Amino acid sequence: MSSELASAAKAMVAPGKGILAADESTGTANKRFAPLGIPETEEMRRNYRDLLFTVPDFGKFFSGVILYDETIHQNGRSGKSFVDILHADGAFPGIKLDTGTHPLALAKPEEKITEGLDGLAKRVEAYVKLGAKFAKWRAVITIDEKTGIPTDACLHANAHALARYAAICQAGGLVPIVEPEVLSDGNAAQSFETSFAVHERTLHHVFSELYNLNVKYEEMILKPSMVVPGQKSGQTASVNEVAQATLTVLLRHVPAAVAGIAFLSGGQGDEDATAHLNEINVLAQKAKAPWPLTFSYGRALQHAALTIWKGQDSNAAAAHKAMHHRALMNSLASLGKWSAEVESDGLVLTH
Ligand code: 13P
Repeated sequence: MSSELASAAKAMVAPGKGILAADESTGTANKRFAPLGIPETEEMRRNYRDLLFTVPDFGKFFSGVILYDETIHQNGRSGKSFVDILHADGAFPGIKLDTGTHPLALAKPEEKITEGLDGLAKRVEAYVKLGAKFAKWRAVITIDEKTGIPTDACLHANAHALARYAAICQAGGLVPIVEPEVLSDGNAAQSFETSFAVHERTLHHVFSELYNLNVKYEEMILKPSMVVPGQKSGQTASVNEVAQATLTVLLRHVPAAVAGIAFLSGGQGDEDATAHLNEINVLAQKAKAPWPLTFSYGRALQHAALTIWKGQDSNAAAAHKAMHHRALMNSLASLGKWSAEVESDGLVLTH
């Protein structure tokens, strides 16, 4: 099936390219600024996004950027709108459409539902007019083996909301990024095996609801978490084990027609996220997996640049260098061409 949205979805996962997640809400952006002493102002959030989007070779590594409402309305420091800056680099502007998570009524404590469906068709229309080409909605699944979560009720409610959002996007002219995140950071203490099982249940619910609501797989991108043990589990898994488990779950539950898969980083270390993506692609090539597998990282792409920048113009060049390196490493990983040697040599390769 070919359509404008299917072509756009394909372009978002073009070889060697990924999607930059820069859609932190104002609260989250400020939380990241605070420990570095960066003023928590609209101007500094603007300057920070400007720094990210003006990295050299931006359009070589990024097919799109997920923006927050504040950013999609802003101009960069040059006076040009961020939307125009991204378009000029050949990267699509995208927009975060969910309005955050809230306790799921009558569910177990810690179970959340993502909100934002009311009036969504109108918001989609407005963002399309502003130049957005795609959107994102993040569902959050928490695991607690002691209390027995996630329940099927929580998985179903979140899958249904994701599917309603995806259908509204496609009807309104945006490619939906469907993001069911199984949390592994913070207090997450699940074993590797449990993480695998919950990813299976989650994706089963998500694709069942996408099907029920007539969402076109060719016109969407899946943004999953990787199968890793919880950060507080005391367990570790090798790069190969993570890649095997993640690819197995995806091959079992993601239809071949889905345009592409772009992972979130979920609190993994910068280099871990790259190494995992690379190994997933090495295995996917052997298994002849049907979809491109790339990155849509937030923290794992931004962390080094933000830490170096600290809100100071005098640090901008060094921050650009760090971000360029991370973007290049992830670009190589999305092709299965990254290695620890390339990482540490800091080689600026072209490919
Ligand atoms: P992280 O890569 O930091 O997990 O963020 C990706 C994202 O878009 C979260 O919704």
